[in-house]
Amino acid sequence: MTGIEIALSLAVGILAFLLFRQLRELGKLTRWASQSRLSDPPEATGRWGEVFNLLHRHRRVTLRRRRELARLMVRSRRGAQALPYGVAVLDAGYRLDWCNDAARDHLGLDPERDREQAIVNMVRAPEFGEYLRAADFSEPLQLGSPGSRRTLSVQLVPFGDEDHLLLSQDVTGAARVEAMRRDFVANVSHELRTPLTVLAGFLETIQDLKLDASRVRDYVGLMAPQAERMKRLIDDLLTLSSLEHAPPPPAAERVPLRTLLERVRTEAEGLSGGKHRISLEAAAGYDLLGAESEIASAFVNLVSNAVRYTPAGGEIRLRWKSTDAGAEFSVEDTGIGIDPEHLPRLTERFYRVDRGRSRETGGTGLGLSIVKHALARHQAALSIDSAPGKGSRFSARFPLARLTPAMQTVSG
Ligand SMILES: Nc1ncnc2c1ncn2[C@@H]1O[C@H](COP(=O)(O)OP(=O)(O)OP(=O)(O)O)[C@@H](O)[C@H]1O
Ligand SMILES: [Mg+2]
Repeated sequence: MTGIEIALSLAVGILAFLLFRQLRELGKLTRWASQSRLSDPPEATGRWGEVFNLLHRHRRVTLRRRRELARLMVRSRRGAQALPYGVAVLDAGYRLDWCNDAARDHLGLDPERDREQAIVNMVRAPEFGEYLRAADFSEPLQLGSPGSRRTLSVQLVPFGDEDHLLLSQDVTGAARVEAMRRDFVANVSHELRTPLTVLAGFLETIQDLKLDASRVRDYVGLMAPQAERMKRLIDDLLTLSSLEHAPPPPAAERVPLRTLLERVRTEAEGLSGGKHRISLEAAAGYDLLGAESEIASAFVNLVSNAVRYTPAGGEIRLRWKSTDAGAEFSVEDTGIGIDPEHLPRLTERFYRVDRGRSRETGGTGLGLSIVKHALARHQAALSIDSAPGKGSRFSARFPLARLTPAMQTVSG
């Protein structure tokens, strides 16, 4: 071999060795970088050590960021989960991306099954489809909840570039109160309009026709009960309203039952005008604790019903007796009775079994709702047993907490 050949062979050998080393380090790098979890970089020679360290640092930062992001996402989902609203995340095409448990409950969504499904296919109310089409989301929309008798308020809130949040809230209670308020105003107006129309008619007649004094007196005589009816209605409304807003009845004020029951009996006799047999039996050795005027109003209402819905010759029994859990006031009559279908609604405001008959006898249909309210304020429950044609029994049960040993006992 010549000197040149030897030098060349040496150079090739050195180059091959260097190449081999580079390839070995590259192999280490590939193996290390393809590991899914982060481990310390392998031992490396020369500049490779720097490369490994740089890469290692980079991977560490990326991994930390990814963990941080995942943690943030879990946190914000937990936050959305804890909201008292239903929350569903929709994409630009109103397709479901994610929803919390409340949205699942309100709208019947399933975040796994319904993922990427169009929300209109899952919330099928036509007004909801219309809401999306109109794309005016400044106001919420009221919906009946699918498969239940709930009322929901839903609203779309755009966020990000083209995404939307669909918020839902159960507003069943508020919707019911609003419906009750509307009914109430309609009822009151209707009840006042009838006597007012009659009064206006009479006034017009008196004005237009030249009537003599005795005819005018007749007309005025016919007008008086209408005015009386309006007054009673307003009195009852005021009583109801004060029962709703007054502070709770005193827990330590004695209502002497003997005096009260005697008064109730006297009122019953006055209302009956001798047309019924009326008896009072008071065996409970208790007085009540509470507001006397409210208790009296409840008892008198029950008694006045018994008188008004019992034909002449019938019997009315007032009873105050002890029970297992307290004491009970009951009014039993042998009157017209009530068909069972009406019983659940009897204490609703303005509810009357027979409007005509109740009106003839001066009823406003507020009596039993006053009774129910006044009793409830004393933690007492009203129960009604009745059979058409046989008679009725209305009982008010007071718990022990509202009772105190009587000063005197009554009978008669
Ligand atoms: N003792 C009873 N026997 C038969 N029906 C009754 C009796 N008590 C109440 N009712 C029925 O229940 C309805 C509601 O009673 P409620 O006392 O609330 O109203 P009202 O008697 O018509 O009027 P008011 O407000 O003047 O009492 C009555 O219209 C009547 O149909
Ligand atoms: Mg009544």
